[in-house]
Amino acid sequence: MLTAIIEAAGAREAVLFSFGERPSLLTSVDAQGFALLPEPASIPLLPRHVHTLTAAAGPVLLNSSTYDVFLSSNGNVAPELFKCICPLKVRGKLAGVVALGRRPGDAVYEEDALDALQLLGNYVALAIQNHTLSQTLAQRVSENLRLLASLHGFYDNALEAFASAIDVKHVNIHGHSLRVGRYSQAIGEALGMDANDVSSLRSAGYLHDIGKVAVDRRLFEKPSSLDPQELREMKDHTVVGHQIVSHVQFPWPQIPEIVRWHHERGDGSGYPDGIRGDETPLAVRIVGLADAFDAMTSERPYRERLTVGSTLQELIRLTPQKFDADAVHALLIQIRRDAVGSNPIPVLEPDLLDLSPTGVDELAATLQHKLSHGRTYLT
Ligand SMILES: [Fe+2]
Repeated sequence: MLTAIIEAAGAREAVLFSFGERPSLLTSVDAQGFALLPEPASIPLLPRHVHTLTAAAGPVLLNSSTYDVFLSSNGNVAPELFKCICPLKVRGKLAGVVALGRRPGDAVYEEDALDALQLLGNYVALAIQNHTLSQTLAQRVSENLRLLASLHGFYDNALEAFASAIDVKHVNIHGHSLRVGRYSQAIGEALGMDANDVSSLRSAGYLHDIGKVAVDRRLFEKPSSLDPQELREMKDHTVVGHQIVSHVQFPWPQIPEIVRWHHERGDGSGYPDGIRGDETPLAVRIVGLADAFDAMTSERPYRERLTVGSTLQELIRLTPQKFDADAVHALLIQIRRDAVGSNPIPVLEPDLLDLSPTGVDELAATLQHKLSHGRTYLT
């Protein structure tokens, strides 16, 4: 457009400004021909400048007595560079300005040049307004994304606090929900899930046991097995938790089903609904695995904790019947990364890691062997 204007008006130098109202400012969008023009060039405008530019019927020739009428000299470019300006208006409002510099041989802009400029100005005005609108829109979108990110940060902190509150009932489950959140996140990341799905997994991990707030505290301290009545109360934490979170509008819609189904198993032997693995979403299977992994590697009143190595062996023994093979494999990947020290923030607490990278590789080979039903493939 600027090239067309330069040709039509016979100019050697020209600049196209867009106008923004808050603050009242002309900002260059493009310039041609000027030897030294800051990029972007900007000229703040006083209300009287905006008024005269808006009131101008068409292109205006500038001279030493009119510079100050239309432009301020408070910007990073001197108004004296411009010999002619054409205010760009859309529905009577200032959208921008085309400013022409010198002509070849410093000739004056004549009537026909001003007419051509006025004609083109109408089209340029619409284009510049579109440009400004899309920039404003892009700015708003990025502001909204920033707000959303801070909202997610707030959610994370609130859910972490919740996770700690869920686990206060007994010393043996302290930190359980936070760890399940961390393990679920790690598994999702190793599976290449996108950031939002990973956040969903972490939050679901934090909240998966929220129903335990309704379970009698004595059940967590009982050194022997639970009787049938107590077992039912304990198992009900899935349904109670589901009732609690179903009424909350989370940014992640899978949270209620994860809370309800995190004790379901692939072969239908889990609770509360006895559904099978292929009926549950992957996110549910991931949190279920993370939960089982943390339960087995933590001490309970009725048993010692298992080592990470024996826990993984046991989980592999139960895969794919009870646990999801991809999720177990992803967990192995993260534990191997811990073992070689390549995770910036380790997934496992330091005193838990008792496996070498080779140990993890052997477990992965066992899992692979099991999934291929003992067949080996040569490539
Ligand atoms: Fe649970």
